[in-house]
Amino acid sequence: MPDIRRITATVNGQTYSREVETRLTLADFLRHELNLTGTHVGCEHGVCGACTVLVGGASVRACLMLAVQCHGQEVVTVEALAQDGRLNPLQQAFQDHHGLQCGFCTPGMLMTLTEFLREHPDPNETQVRDALSGNLCRCTGYQSIVAAALDAAKRMREMKS
Ligand code: FES
Ligand code: FES
Repeated sequence: MPDIRRITATVNGQTYSREVETRLTLADFLRHELNLTGTHVGCEHGVCGACTVLVGGASVRACLMLAVQCHGQEVVTVEALAQDGRLNPLQQAFQDHHGLQCGFCTPGMLMTLTEFLREHPDPNETQVRDALSGNLCRCTGYQSIVAAALDAAKRMREMKS
């Protein structure tokens, strides 16, 4: 007999209430229950970082977190970054620096960097590389991603000044 619980969570500013199996991961909840397929699933073991989302403002591996653990929480996924059809500064910097090729790692990269740049608005290259050390990319060689992150930080500082 599956163990079913009702959970209520806010995802990208919208409140959802669903009955879910207690074994359902947050990644599968987002993708299959809410159709938020921007969150990608790669390794399902907490290694690749493709499934990274924010819960309560902190980045988490959605493949390692259960949906029931998000009851009462605020979840933010990559779908929330663009506003009114416009890329946010981080996304725009990825596009401008060719920070993606196949794009599979990109949602996780963006969410990791969203948290990191909020905490570190003026990072150096080493800090960016450290921040991204838990996100794997098979395509880019990371150079363009690091360049995008540094440029995004600069753009966001300029927007605030
Ligand atoms: S799918 Fe979650 S860390 Fe790889
Ligand atoms: S762009 Fe393909 S895995 Fe990163």
